[in-house]
Amino acid sequence: MMEIEVEEMDDKKRMGGGRLEEEGIVFAVPKKIFYNTAMRFCRSISSLAVGAIEEPLEVVDAFCASGIRGIRYAKENKNVNKLTFIDIEKTAITAAKKNAKANKVKAKVSADARNISLAAFDNDADFLEIDPFGTPSPYLADAMRFFNSRKVAYLSVTATDVAVLCGGKLAASMKNYQAKPLNCSFTHEIGLRIMLRRIVDVAAEFNMGIEPLISFSDQHYLKAILKMRRGAQEAFDCQSQAGFISFCKKCAWRAASKFPVQKCGSCGAETDWAGPLWLGELHDKCFVTLMRSINNQRGYADKAKLSNFLSLMEGEVGMPPYYYNIHELCKIHHIQPVPRFDDYIKALTALGFTARRTHFSPICIKTDAPFRSVLEALGWKG
Ligand SMILES: C[S@@+](CC[C@H](N)C(=O)[O-])C[C@H]1O[C@@H](n2cnc3c(N)ncnc32)[C@H](O)[C@@H]1O
Ligand SMILES: [Zn+2]
Repeated sequence: MMEIEVEEMDDKKRMGGGRLEEEGIVFAVPKKIFYNTAMRFCRSISSLAVGAIEEPLEVVDAFCASGIRGIRYAKENKNVNKLTFIDIEKTAITAAKKNAKANKVKAKVSADARNISLAAFDNDADFLEIDPFGTPSPYLADAMRFFNSRKVAYLSVTATDVAVLCGGKLAASMKNYQAKPLNCSFTHEIGLRIMLRRIVDVAAEFNMGIEPLISFSDQHYLKAILKMRRGAQEAFDCQSQAGFISFCKKCAWRAASKFPVQKCGSCGAETDWAGPLWLGELHDKCFVTLMRSINNQRGYADKAKLSNFLSLMEGEVGMPPYYYNIHELCKIHHIQPVPRFDDYIKALTALGFTARRTHFSPICIKTDAPFRSVLEALGWKG
């Protein structure tokens, strides 16, 4: 198929050497070039998002490695009319270009074998993919430069520094995100919201606001695909959606507010808190619904998981920026037995509240019920 030096590779290997297949694309991964089979789901959901944008797009696959992401976006979606690969490794760029050619990508293909910080000055993008190792933070300002000529653009960001964003690594989180994380049962939503707030602040410096189309946590990474709109007012509006989440370790009460709340709103104990973080929506419901209908028309290997994930995300729109682990609540409040999940959702609904499962965890729910009702629906007698 191509002249790149390859050797057979087993699925678990992350640094390449092999000829592989993903969703019908056969591609070569030269030795020492990164490829992770486990990210197929992430590439599929991102490709659905590219399709759901529906506008003609010049896509830049920065951090492209083998180019599999960009190639999939261009092959699977008619609206990609230009595809540019960027990677600091020349071998990666050579492979990406050959892989695109071998797969007969119809979009115009170009490539830039440079550090993204240099390439940012010479490339424009409607849709930019940022998929680095670890934190995306050092590349966010670079990302905004790709949009200098655009009033509206799309940014797709992956963060794999989950231990920093979703845990107790305060110093690393302050360094990379200027925000305090919180190690608690809804830490993945906190991590995602910290990343979003950081993007808001960098975008604001470039006179842009964000609108999350879809953002989620899966396996070892966090992902957000955002619509970027140019304008000072757009930037101000987004910055005004930053705030904090306070949490009581004693009774599991939590609240979102402009500033941290020092005392628990339920038991009065001293709270811990996370932030600043994004308190706006994580997804655009219509956009996610469109992604789900596109998924129904495709034969992805992860079709069922994608469909489930997307419908859970649709249900998260309009709900508070945190979720509850019912096992944690029952343990802390000595509630026995732990109710069945569906029964608990019915109990909250019977009290007049909305309660939904969340993509963040199969054992957690999102609800708009006040904390007292969250407990009462579990069988708590006070
Ligand atoms: C996680 S891999 C990308 C995986 C790829 N997007 C995929 O879906 O298979 C990160 C890639 O970024 C490249 N890279 C690292 N630092 C870079 C930088 N400053 N500028 C451009 N590329 C960089 C690496 O060479 C590597 O190929
Ligand atoms: Zn409390």
